[in-house]
Amino acid sequence: MTLKGVAFDLDGVLTDTARAHYRAWKKLADSLGIPFDEERNEALKGVDRMGSLALILGDRPAYDLTERQRLAARKNDWYLEEIAHFGPADLFPGARAALEQCRAAGLGIALASASRNAPLLIARMQVADLFDAVIDPASLAAGKPAPDIFLAAAAVLGVHPAAMLGVEDAPAGVQAIHAAGMKALGVGTRAALPDADWIIPAIRDFDLAAYSA
Ligand code: BG6
Ligand code: MG
Repeated sequence: MTLKGVAFDLDGVLTDTARAHYRAWKKLADSLGIPFDEERNEALKGVDRMGSLALILGDRPAYDLTERQRLAARKNDWYLEEIAHFGPADLFPGARAALEQCRAAGLGIALASASRNAPLLIARMQVADLFDAVIDPASLAAGKPAPDIFLAAAAVLGVHPAAMLGVEDAPAGVQAIHAAGMKALGVGTRAALPDADWIIPAIRDFDLAAYSA
């Protein structure tokens, strides 16, 4: 089927915020005396804020909902400090060009990020005008790896999921794309994203012509 739309993840695909999220979670885990490292962080990628916190806390019973919300807010404050000075220079090389390739080809473009900070980031990096739609993760019943965010992207663009490409750096994201019935372009390594339909090492390698079904 001819490609008619693309749904981009943000963190780790268009900009290096995956590192910023990691550093903020690491700070929180350290403050609680909970072991956390980059390997454990892999499972958090693409997972929403409270879901990520649940993965860090595991089955520790000491944290009720109010406490969990406080911890999540603290992590977000640290994350906001990390991205306070973000601007266009913080886009990965080739990120704007990838979006422009899609526009030039007449494709619908959606942002399918689990991050509630995504609108702020694309505004600061001055690429907000390149998106036809930004899906609000707060409006969805379930986060990645559920397909909801990618199905919402297809619906708002008016494109059948089978004619959509999803672009992701996280295993949970690739799973969500496939569950939505789309093809998945993985950004990273084949080892990290074994199920992606195509793999590129970084967004600068984005080549739309290669992803038609
Ligand atoms: C995803 C990131 O894009 O957004 C996760 O990969 C992050 O690491 C999630 O936890 C939620 O982000 P936020 O900004 O709403 O806490
Ligand atoms: Mg990501």
